[in-house]
Amino acid sequence: MNRPLRLALTKGRLEKDTVALFDGLGYDCDALHHKGRRLILPVTGPQGEQLEVVLAKAADVITYVENGVCDLGVVGKDTILENGVSFYEIADLGFGRCRFAVAAKAGENPYGGYGQLRVATKYPKVARRFFEQKGMDVDVIRIEGSVELAPLLGLSDVIVDIVETGATLRENGLAVVEDVTEISARLIVNVASLKLRKQEIETLAGRLGEGIR
Ligand code: PRP
Repeated sequence: MNRPLRLALTKGRLEKDTVALFDGLGYDCDALHHKGRRLILPVTGPQGEQLEVVLAKAADVITYVENGVCDLGVVGKDTILENGVSFYEIADLGFGRCRFAVAAKAGENPYGGYGQLRVATKYPKVARRFFEQKGMDVDVIRIEGSVELAPLLGLSDVIVDIVETGATLRENGLAVVEDVTEISARLIVNVASLKLRKQEIETLAGRLGEGIR
């Protein structure tokens, strides 16, 4: 018999929303609710079908799905845009909604200067692609977290980052210059898994779709 379908789940906020979705669909997520430090958890579907949930960091969800050691993944569109290439994105799960935006010090026009625009970001590919499409030649500086610091300290003119409530920007005297793209959680599938286990995957995706509606 096949091993259970394996779903890589981004730890944190998307994990909570996904577990709530599974709960609502009648999946037994007891192990996920009492996971302790365990990283691979069994989940049982409403018809007794087994699912293995693997808790991972966002970029690693993509690595596990691309390599086929996980059949499916739940990951943010932000991570897909920065890291993803070879898998199918089969559903927008609707939660984890936020956006990528360009932001700068409030009241400043960062595009007004003559020099190369300096862009700090955790998402260099997304930033480079966005400014390329605008025909702007920019200097992209990779930052690991709290990107808002970069313009405040004078390291960059703008940031490209995730904005959810806008509180982090506001409380640090920054403001959105323009939006880049909308983001939400997506269900992704390994290319071979979708061929080999099409029915199981479609059943699961269909249920998740109903749960969202
Ligand atoms: C994200 C993002 C912003 C903040 C936006 O950071 O990079 O800093 O959330 O949310 P808001 O609009 O609701 O204020 P995260 O919390 O992931 O931490 P990090 O900056 O250290 O990566």
